Amino acid sequence: MTPLIRIIGSLNADMVSVTRRFPEPGETITATSFTTSAGGKGANQAVACGRLSRWKSSATHSASSNEPIRVEMVGAVGGRDAHFQSLLRPTLEQSGLDTARIRTVDEDYTGVAVIIVDSSAGGENRILFSPGANYSGMQAIPDVLSTGLAPPIPDVIVMQGEIPIETVIGILREIAKYKDASGKKGIEAGPEVMFNPAPAPPGGLPEDVYAAVDHLIMNETEAELMAPKTEELLRVVPAVKGAGLREQVAQYFHKLGVTYVVITLGAKGVWYSACDAGTAIAADGESRFTNEIPAAKVSQVLDTTAAGDTFIGGYATHIARWRERQRQSGHEASKRERYQVVMDEAMKRAGRASARCVERQGAMDSIPWEDEI
Ligand code: ADP
Ligand code: NA
Repeated sequence: MTPLIRIIGSLNADMVSVTRRFPEPGETITATSFTTSAGGKGANQAVACGRLSRWKSSATHSASSNEPIRVEMVGAVGGRDAHFQSLLRPTLEQSGLDTARIRTVDEDYTGVAVIIVDSSAGGENRILFSPGANYSGMQAIPDVLSTGLAPPIPDVIVMQGEIPIETVIGILREIAKYKDASGKKGIEAGPEVMFNPAPAPPGGLPEDVYAAVDHLIMNETEAELMAPKTEELLRVVPAVKGAGLREQVAQYFHKLGVTYVVITLGAKGVWYSACDAGTAIAADGESRFTNEIPAAKVSQVLDTTAAGDTFIGGYATHIARWRERQRQSGHEASKRERYQVVMDEAMKRAGRASARCVERQGAMDSIPWEDEI
């Protein structure tokens, strides 16, 4: 069976103007260049999953032993503009994605990110996100909430924060119910859920939904925003009093049901903690394992946009393929294998992918293919 990854999230048209300085309030200045490209965190992560399980040239792909992964994008675009047909759809399909679960909201517009890049300040940017159909078409209604588990059941579900947070919560609750009812363990229990809180929902998510999250993936800023207030933290995991932020965040989310807490550290690489969900203990190498993995070597850092999204693509494709190998072998992986070996491979692959991304200019355009990592 071909593994399936389903990404539920945003699709945007990125409108990028480059300038030698940002305009002052009330001022109009002339930009040095303008481009439109496909974007949105959901679409970026979907493209990353598509490309990182495919070879850029399909002619050479037959030589590879790895089959492409089936990648579905779930989201909503507007019918008032042509951004989906002219921009998003061609890019997504060229990356091998299935776009059949993208709905069109006739009366709304496709999400837009207006991005101003200051070319004199090391490429610093300012972004204004107008959600459009990402919100109106992804409301927490039964039709949308059931998309996570719509047959065929995926191996991996990936979600972020650019669609209504009530929808993210609702989908996670549906998945928690499903896993509870399945009464099975390991890969038989249902899909593995990756949640990337970008942007981080103010005040986090309700505690109960973390039962459905297997992988919580954040950068350092998002980890700070997702950390609960001290009182709340100590109510859930009293033993972490006085510990560093990473340790506090990891134990808190493990206790609430997350198995893998992953914090990306930019040029420093990534730190992760794997722990039996529902428990919160110090790392003992058995029931809990933590590790920091340095970033892959880069020749030059040109543009870090989409590094995090590329990381998630490298990670999700590794987990999806690993699940397929498990299914074929019928052997149940030990905790040590999952927490140490599989995660180590996944983090290194994700790191190699994002290293290629930061060496190139652009967002979605800079996401590499499998044969490039
Ligand atoms: P985000 O892009 O979401 O802010 P990070 O900045 O943490 O996330 O980057 C995600 C991953 O991209 C890192 O874990 C690392 O593997 C890679 N990465 C980012 N910046 C660099 C860099 N300057 N050099 C090498 N790798 C990088
Ligand atoms: Na980035």
